[in-house]
Amino acid sequence: EVWNPNGKYRVVSTKPMPGTRWINLLVEQDCRVEVCTQKKTILSIEDIIALIGDKCDGVIGQLTEEWGDALFSALSRAGGKAFGNMAVGYNNVDVDAATKHGVAVGNTPGVLTETTAELAASLSLAAARRIVEADEFMRAGLYDGWLPNLFVGNLLKGQTVGVIGAGRIGSAYARMMVEGFKMNLIYYDLYQATRLEKFITGYAEFLRANGEQPVKWKRAASMEEVLREADVISLHPVLDKTTYHLINKESLATMKKEAILVNCSRGPVIDEVALVEHLKHNPMFRVGLDVFEDEPYMKPGLADQKNAIIVPHIASASKWTREGMATLAALNVLGKIKGYPIWSDPNR
Ligand code: DGY
Repeated sequence: EVWNPNGKYRVVSTKPMPGTRWINLLVEQDCRVEVCTQKKTILSIEDIIALIGDKCDGVIGQLTEEWGDALFSALSRAGGKAFGNMAVGYNNVDVDAATKHGVAVGNTPGVLTETTAELAASLSLAAARRIVEADEFMRAGLYDGWLPNLFVGNLLKGQTVGVIGAGRIGSAYARMMVEGFKMNLIYYDLYQATRLEKFITGYAEFLRANGEQPVKWKRAASMEEVLREADVISLHPVLDKTTYHLINKESLATMKKEAILVNCSRGPVIDEVALVEHLKHNPMFRVGLDVFEDEPYMKPGLADQKNAIIVPHIASASKWTREGMATLAALNVLGKIKGYPIWSDPNR
């Protein structure tokens, strides 16, 4: 699909994206916008090179594409200056290769913080209260009356939520769980989580001043401390060499037998084979997973586990956020083409 065929700058989007705001923005600034409508969900490097063609000023791409040397050199040969990744995570982008070929890279932080945190909170609640299992039970026609022991789960109030990676999303999630469900908090981050610390100290003071029951909170000295002490653990680190298989056989063994583990970050943060084994042998341990190690595939056995809730990488999938991500990705590309400072450069 093409908008403004005579536009001066050629911008390609490898996928249709929600809303029209991002298209209008580009068109108003003299861009010809081409959207790839191929049915295939994951485009190959060859597909994308063909889309780039001989002249292309910028590309908006997706986290399912491997943006490395081959694509950046093709983009640079076509005169391209900018690549906008429609995601906050950019583990699919080799930023050094982009820099080498003179292509600027932008990502989409901020607009997906609350939406992603809301899904992590939803998975936490769904796991704690066994909502998916209960729904399946109803649909199977198995409900034949109220029973004292039917789908008994955990009360989150007074339990401890553990956050690993207290950046924007981890902090928003922590706030939701502490404020919304009166959970105690333990978190671990390599850097000082100023945003979260400000919230939690202020909130603790608010509760004290109002004579309400206090929440306990602490910054853990190690990830293991969080794994040992928390009842619900949510993972929010970036994926890089240091966080690959951060959760493995040993770390799973460190967690409480009835813990809940939630992952809305990136699949390879968890060793999924080890996780499947752990789920098999610990029926009271539950997980809520939005991401998988080899998307779109799951490791054998995962889908058979009743104690796993699995959803297809939808953490940022609210209308407002997805339109915001598309707009920000377009602005990043446009900014570079027009020589404005790029809005969200992951190197900054
Ligand atoms: C991201 O932005 O990194 C998410 O995984 C997709 O929304």
